[in-house]
Amino acid sequence: MGFEELEKYKKEHSLGGGIEKQKQRKQKGKLNALERMNSLFDSTSFVEIDPFVTHECFDFEMDSKKFLGDGVITGYGLINSRLAYAFSHDFTVFGGSLSLSFAHKVCKIMDLALKQGVPIIGINDSGGARIQEGVASLAGYADIFHRNVKASGVVPQISLIMGPCAGGAVYSPAITDFIIMNRSSFMFVTGPEVVKEVTNENVSFDDLGGAQIHNEKSGVAHFLAEDEQGCFIILHKLLSYIPSNNLENPPRIDTKDNPLRENEELNYILPSSPTKPYNMESLLKKFIDNDDFLEVQKYWARNIIIGFARLDGNSVGIVANNPEVLAGVLDIDSCDKAARFVRFCDCFNIPLIALVDVPGFLPGTNQEWGGIIRHGAKLLYAFSEATVPKLTVIIRKAYGGAYDVMNSKHIGADYNFAWPTAEIAVMGPEGACNVIFKTEIATSIEPNEKKIELVEQYRKKFSNPYIAASKGYIDDVIEPKETRRRLISALKSIYRKREEGPKRKHGNIPV
Ligand code: HXC
Repeated sequence: MGFEELEKYKKEHSLGGGIEKQKQRKQKGKLNALERMNSLFDSTSFVEIDPFVTHECFDFEMDSKKFLGDGVITGYGLINSRLAYAFSHDFTVFGGSLSLSFAHKVCKIMDLALKQGVPIIGINDSGGARIQEGVASLAGYADIFHRNVKASGVVPQISLIMGPCAGGAVYSPAITDFIIMNRSSFMFVTGPEVVKEVTNENVSFDDLGGAQIHNEKSGVAHFLAEDEQGCFIILHKLLSYIPSNNLENPPRIDTKDNPLRENEELNYILPSSPTKPYNMESLLKKFIDNDDFLEVQKYWARNIIIGFARLDGNSVGIVANNPEVLAGVLDIDSCDKAARFVRFCDCFNIPLIALVDVPGFLPGTNQEWGGIIRHGAKLLYAFSEATVPKLTVIIRKAYGGAYDVMNSKHIGADYNFAWPTAEIAVMGPEGACNVIFKTEIATSIEPNEKKIELVEQYRKKFSNPYIAASKGYIDDVIEPKETRRRLISALKSIYRKREEGPKRKHGNIPV
């Protein structure tokens, strides 16, 4: 009846690049491509597509080396009962390198996911373009990149990096919304050998593109997991905050945390001196549902904190200055980090909450030559163009241009609150007095005393939220303990917000 033949093919396919290669993988403690799919999806829900596809390359005697599936497993399944499509590279077949047939398989599931409006998950473990295929492989990559771009902002795209991700393999993940790396993975455009040849630099795989580097230094990765299972745990949690596509709202989860709950500790959380740092993460955890915060890009540009939380069960994206690192100043990396996150939330209908304690932009040649003007403009642009509900709480400092940038009323925020401790001014009292009272201080008999007196006067006059509130730039000055209740109430009042901009092809964000 032909069933034997099917059985034989299935067995052959399950071995990928062969028994020996599977054994080597096991010895390294790695899951194979199919096991990864089963870890990704709810039990028994994964359904494979295209297991019979093989490559069509004849050069380098490749016609005698064919493997069913050709180095990638593709298909669909349920993640926490929600449909998603995925591909999983099989390193046992030519090091997971990409042939044109391989690319067509990936494109097929991307097209299906896009038609259906569900997430695309990529499990990456690949040596890059299949060298034997030449330009056909490059074409295959470009077909995938093009789809990544088309799907961007329509369905969530998330990349898990499980091993090497070299050459062309890096650019599809780079376009996706989030990259999750584990400690035995690495990503680079050119590997250590080429680096040595071109620059004479000796660098290890890990130091060039390991998970720590991309989470801490380059900002390429968004999450760091200890191992493969850790990647799946992060992915499952991340997806719980995100809708399946841009036309849906994020799933609401009953967190059982009282929306009216107040937290008295917030009234005493700020240090007595306005120049002393405090822990912004523990501050925000006091008013979100069940202290539960999924921080994104935790190790990079730590002067800003971004991540997902819930308020009364609804997903929100939080962007908070972090006074513990560089006093929470905005610099090149923190603006890039926050801008992309703001745009992600805006794509997928996740309301934004800005928590502001920012002394301004970081001064210096390093920043100016690096283009802080261009990078700062990204964050300004991102908050400004976002049409999701946008809320702001000014905790302490909101100085200068950074006040405008951090989701101010003037760039379209819906509700702007301030704690009584807020200081909204063009610059800090010391700097301001040095400029406007320069002569007065210099000609005084006691310049130091004079300066202290003037700084105090300035602080009383300008470093408070009441002038901004009197102009309606701040909707209300609230007691810190009421932050949760007020944010939830504000979100409820604006949840149905729909805002249309002028018709245009797209804006021109300063990238
Ligand atoms: C074909 C490849 C391959 C590739 C690995 N293999 N990469 N085959 N094309 N790109 C094969 C190896 O020949 C080997 O086959 C098997 O996969 C396992 O590879 P190993 O080197 O033995 O494994 P390991 O020591 O773990 O090293 C993994 C690796 C290394 C770091 C990924 O293989 C590597 O450096 N590969 C090349 C990476 C690279 O330069 N890629 C860029 C390609 S150019 P056998 O039969 O011996 O088991 C590119 C540009 C595209 O991607 C640009 C598009 C925008």
